[in-house]
Amino acid sequence: MGLSGKKGIKDFNKMKRKGKAIAWVTAYDYPFSYCAEQAGIDMILIGDSGGMVQLGYETTNPVSMNEMLSMAKSVRKGAPNTFIIGDMPQGAYEISTTLAVENALRFVKEAGCDAIKCEGGIRVVDKVKAIVDAGILVCGHLGLTPQSTSSFGGYKVQGKSRTSFEDILKDALALQEAGVYAVLLEAMPAESAEQIAKHLDIPVYGIGAGPNVDGQLLIMHDLLGFYQPFRPKFAKCFIPEVILEYANYLDSLEDVSATGIETRRDGLLVLVQLTLEIYIRKVKNKTFPGKEYVYQLSENALSKLQKSEYWIE
Ligand code: KIV
Repeated sequence: MGLSGKKGIKDFNKMKRKGKAIAWVTAYDYPFSYCAEQAGIDMILIGDSGGMVQLGYETTNPVSMNEMLSMAKSVRKGAPNTFIIGDMPQGAYEISTTLAVENALRFVKEAGCDAIKCEGGIRVVDKVKAIVDAGILVCGHLGLTPQSTSSFGGYKVQGKSRTSFEDILKDALALQEAGVYAVLLEAMPAESAEQIAKHLDIPVYGIGAGPNVDGQLLIMHDLLGFYQPFRPKFAKCFIPEVILEYANYLDSLEDVSATGIETRRDGLLVLVQLTLEIYIRKVKNKTFPGKEYVYQLSENALSKLQKSEYWIE
């Protein structure tokens, strides 16, 4: 832990070794990142999903580097003591290693990010290595990588077939070799994600990748039920569970009518913070994700996967 109490990769590696799950969430602005830090989140991702849930684009593809930086700067202000990760938008890293390093540096120097995240494996490994060599922490992102949904034919679960599982594993090993500090797996069956975690020494986190990884990520607007156009299976909304906690909080106050006069803890801020506290608690005690939020393989698909030469019992 750093001087400010901010967790860093040594803490995350230790948590992995001790089997303690990490809870992270996306945020795109000052108020929500403030709530996340107050709730005790381990890491915040300024995802390019902000292009959809915050800026209203239909996909993440139009988001620009400047829009990402604007969101990242306000997240840093709301969460000064939290490890924050800037998500490289499409076009910010694929063209050349120079462009990739330049944009990764902008996240660090202009927005105060602690790390960056890139989508893709072997196809972008030279860019990832160049960023790592520039001294910047990189988190890999594999499985369903939203910037490439058109090549997947839409938002489709990845790693279900033996070939897809083996390709993702090879990508993950290449990223580890290039020096990423962690890999995030998105929308994969729990069994495939668990296998990938078994092969890697670095932390493997999941968003829709089942419970047997080193931590969970959710999109802020999904866990608050803010974003309606598209809600994947794993995107649990925690608001129905927070109502009781909020009622208990109000009960604990001496004079509800005076709430907010001194502290302003009277509205959405408290609700969002309580919601995040529930999410964090459930990740840490491993009750989230329950099976209704997990992609599972059919017996037939599982037995095919188990024939892979990379399968670890
Ligand atoms: O942009 C984002 O929020 C992401 C997550 C979906 C992993 O990349």
